Amino acid sequence: MDRDKVTIRQVTKRAGAAPRLTMITAYDYYSARFADRAGVDMLLVGDSLGQFMLGYPGTLPVTMADMLHHCRAVSRAQPTAFVVGDLPFGSYQIDTRDAVANAIRLVKEGGCEAVKLEGGEEQAGTIAAIVAAGIPVMGHIGLGPQSEHRYGGYRVQGRTADAAQRVLRDGEAAAAAGCFAIVIEAVPRKIAAEVTQRLPVPTIGIGAGPDCDGQVLIYHEVIGMHTGRAPRYVKQYGAVGDQITAAVASYCSEVRGGQFPDREHSYLMERAELARFRERLNDSPPPRPDPPTPAAGADAAETGG
Ligand code: KIV
Repeated sequence: MDRDKVTIRQVTKRAGAAPRLTMITAYDYYSARFADRAGVDMLLVGDSLGQFMLGYPGTLPVTMADMLHHCRAVSRAQPTAFVVGDLPFGSYQIDTRDAVANAIRLVKEGGCEAVKLEGGEEQAGTIAAIVAAGIPVMGHIGLGPQSEHRYGGYRVQGRTADAAQRVLRDGEAAAAAGCFAIVIEAVPRKIAAEVTQRLPVPTIGIGAGPDCDGQVLIYHEVIGMHTGRAPRYVKQYGAVGDQITAAVASYCSEVRGGQFPDREHSYLMERAELARFRERLNDSPPPRPDPPTPAAGADAAETGG
């Protein structure tokens, strides 16, 4: 698909304006290429790569080195989509200097165009400092998975009047500190709608209902490449995991049954050259060594043509 590069300017214009923003996570070169080809507005190299690429139970173990490795893979795809990288747990909570240095690394070494961090009121100073360094910051309010132990698990936020007010205060603080957009995660839809209505920047919902300015989902959950139950808010649009299993099972079965590789998937050579080669061998085939070497066996089986 031919389209212009998505920049922060296109993103910020979409507060309260159609069409809604689309964002999906991408953690590697091909997920970035395929999602970008589909025309998504933003790619998020989320720290959810902890679960979906690295097999951790959550995001807490993810390091700056992990994030940089995956951000580089995504930015090598040169997506048209705007690329946002997550600051992982521990990379911005200790002090502001650290936070700015790590945000700079995601841009300078990882190729990201913006960073995302979790938290509202308590992170306002950090957000302002990163923005002052010239780096766009996406906020993340409601459920912040990096605070899972504070909530006692991944729990919906903002379900009481007090909690809903906290979500709103966090959104207002993040916007006032300079965030260009704000993710709202796992919040009742009516609360997300109220927060969206009151913020000057676009909101991107995940488990936050239909009234946000955009939506984000996790790539593997969208394409159906995961095992186990997905959260209620996930809609699965493909069954890639089943297709992978079926494809690999067919490959194994054809190798075992001798159908693969066939002539179409083998390299051929001129008959005359093969005959010359065989003349040079000048004897009958030696007994097959034990254990057999697959490479030698494959060469001897060449039939020419
Ligand atoms: O890491 C991530 O994938 C995220 C999304 C849940 C928004 O932060």
